[in-house]
Amino acid sequence: MSNITAGITGVQGFLPEDILTNHDLSKIVDTSDEWITTRTGIKERRIMKNGASSDMAANAVEGLLKKTNTNPEDVELVILATVTPDYPFPSTANVLCDKLGMKNAWGFDLIAACSGFIYGISTGAQFIETGKYKKVIVVGVDKMSSIIDYEDRTTCVIFGDGAGAVMLEPNNEGLGIIDFILRSDGSGRNHLLQPAGGSKNPASYDTVEKRMHFVKQEGKQVFKFAVTNMAEISAEIMERNNLSSDDVDWLVPHQANLRIIDATANRMGLSKDKVMINIQNYGNTTAGTLPLCLWDYEKQLKKGDTLILSAFGGGFTWGAVYIKWLYNT
Ligand code: ACO
Repeated sequence: MSNITAGITGVQGFLPEDILTNHDLSKIVDTSDEWITTRTGIKERRIMKNGASSDMAANAVEGLLKKTNTNPEDVELVILATVTPDYPFPSTANVLCDKLGMKNAWGFDLIAACSGFIYGISTGAQFIETGKYKKVIVVGVDKMSSIIDYEDRTTCVIFGDGAGAVMLEPNNEGLGIIDFILRSDGSGRNHLLQPAGGSKNPASYDTVEKRMHFVKQEGKQVFKFAVTNMAEISAEIMERNNLSSDDVDWLVPHQANLRIIDATANRMGLSKDKVMINIQNYGNTTAGTLPLCLWDYEKQLKKGDTLILSAFGGGFTWGAVYIKWLYNT
């Protein structure tokens, strides 16, 4: 086994300026600030009115390159997690590389919904650990407003738009991505999916009329799977690495629902002050939530801190990643 680990050497986020509050939503669908706040923890979310996922990603990655003092031509690989690509093809990763002059990088899009970022950094880490790659960028970005039905109160209150990106580089001090557990269960497509637009139901008048290009979710079913699996996998990665709750400095949970986050933290035996939470400001940005949490909390992170990243999403997909943080800000 190589002694090279993949460390996160920088993180940067991007959020569109336009804010959609619970109050705004209560004028569009039959809902209330009280319902949304108590059931989800969300107060407002950001909406990208003009532009695509690649524009949000480009904003985040441009900042990341600057922050890490990286020449765009030195980036070797870009993994972009999204369920809202600019096009079915080419990949948004390719569009992004073109926009920012990352001429020597190859890249691909990764579809794992809300688990996209943890799938992405686990994959990116493999290229670093071989010793062959020195600079890998992983982006989590979603323009959920492009696939949300603003006539469906059960989904439109949950999601928002945003992007986050990290740089992965080799580390020889035993810091960085230490372990990961990733899972999936394709039968979950029955409870959470975007039914049309792919090869099964190509776009037609019929699919548009039936609103099949929007996210469909059986919230209650998904909640049950999410709350159990996110909590269990987070506990599993702690046990596998002999980590007690005292050893964990931060839980970085996917921001889908405050009740799911609380259940995960409880299962891990963590107090609230160790849990990164920004769901109140951005809602569920799907692949964007975890890097946006790291970005928001970056100043509080210290070299050597133990982080557990944990997510559950459409697919179903879920998993947890154990990271030893690499730098002080
Ligand atoms: N405002 C007011 N009432 C509402 C709203 C709303 N926005 N939405 C639903 N309701 C109503 C329902 O119609 C229902 O009414 P009824 O009892 O008369 O039928 C009632 O509220 C309860 O509905 P539930 O669906 O049981 O509400 P729940 O407490 O489960 O909350 C929610 C819904 C927030 C969607 C929750 O189920 C959830 O968080 N699910 C998991 C989401 C998740 O983790 N998704 C995975 C990641 S997303 C991805 O991968 C793309």
